[in-house]
Amino acid sequence: MSVRFDPAGPLRGSVTPPADKSISHRAALFGAMSDVPVTVRNYLDAHDTNSTLAALHALGAGLDRSGGELVVRGVGLHAPIGTTGGLLDVGNSGTLLRLLPGWLAGQPGGIWTLDGDDSIRKRPVDRVAEPLRLMGARVDARDGRLPPLRVEGTTLSGIDYELPVATAQVKSCVLIAGMLAEGRTTVREPHPSRDHTERFLRRSRAPFSVEDGALCISQVDELELDEITVPGDPSSAAFFVTAALLVPGSRIVVSGVGLNWTRTGFYRIAQRMGAVIVGDLEEPGTVADVEPVGELDVAAAPLVATTVEPEEVPLSIDELPLVALLGCFAEGDTVVRGAAELRVKESDRIDGVVEGLRGLGASAEASADGFVVHGGSGLEGGVIDARGDHRLAMMGAVAGLASRKGVEVVGMEAAAVSYPGFESDLQALLGRA
Ligand code: S3P
Repeated sequence: MSVRFDPAGPLRGSVTPPADKSISHRAALFGAMSDVPVTVRNYLDAHDTNSTLAALHALGAGLDRSGGELVVRGVGLHAPIGTTGGLLDVGNSGTLLRLLPGWLAGQPGGIWTLDGDDSIRKRPVDRVAEPLRLMGARVDARDGRLPPLRVEGTTLSGIDYELPVATAQVKSCVLIAGMLAEGRTTVREPHPSRDHTERFLRRSRAPFSVEDGALCISQVDELELDEITVPGDPSSAAFFVTAALLVPGSRIVVSGVGLNWTRTGFYRIAQRMGAVIVGDLEEPGTVADVEPVGELDVAAAPLVATTVEPEEVPLSIDELPLVALLGCFAEGDTVVRGAAELRVKESDRIDGVVEGLRGLGASAEASADGFVVHGGSGLEGGVIDARGDHRLAMMGAVAGLASRKGVEVVGMEAAAVSYPGFESDLQALLGRA
């Protein structure tokens, strides 16, 4: 489906982004691993998080959804869980693909195969297979590194694991497996990445601690989880924030948005570029068990280029396409490096962003682990292919509003992976609802 986004007048008013995708996945999974029912308020209703519910249902969890409330009746952390094997469809969800094996690997006697759509079949899984094998599980992948991923559960042993790259998905997988493993498991990451799993572990009163920068988890019998309210997704909100920064005269308020510091790297980068974003962003380094929620007040402003350093990458990973878009309008060269992970997202986001923005008139080059955008002259407009990637689709839409001649986004339907209501929320901010 192709949709045109023409240059538009200012964005005004307030918007509440959809529920956080990362936190929704974890809320459902932790609920399924609990013995007592867990109520999740504001669970994200989107393709990815619905894949998680379907997989957990197939594993025996009860799921009652009414209005914005989801009650998960879990099967408990340890075997026997609801089924002893079968095929689990993860759809387009990399998070489900990487987190769920951590739980399954610790279920002796169970054999499951995780598979998904064409995009998921290109996402590396050797990164979870390696630590799970070290813990004792039998894990097989196509060509040793791609889905389908076959996981044979066993009695796991704790390991000390150093992540080769900072990825919250692999970190979470090992921590979840660590709850089932005999002894103690420690995980170290090269730079901090999103810490939602750690917050869930603390809230579930699991034996989790941080010692000298290492994340430590010990075996646990059951989880004690209270009600969970999922905040708005700062990654989804970032599209409107970017639009408001680029379309002259805009001023918007984003409310009910998650402000966890491990997710707001993009907002700090944008502020450094001159963006007017006012709000109570959580202080970097904060250790917490709850997810902070608040409001952001955003106004269009002249921007200057910046360099995003490797340690900032995990804190802004899903918003780096928007850093590139801001870079087109900022004075100077905007540089992102240390972001090779972008090549293994829902699409190769380095090529998708650079080729996509060049097609709209940008001057930009890709590197092995990032890109450079030569900014200052904005965007002419044209056609951009979303490449089946929700974040590229929404970036294209925002580019259209800020361009001189408008942008046609090919494959706009991909937005529904994380944000089914994106177009109508955008129309409302443009005063067209
Ligand atoms: C996610 C972690 C990130 C992010 C993805 C969601 C998560 O991936 O890109 O959209 O929920 O843990 P990596 O951890 O692989 O960087």
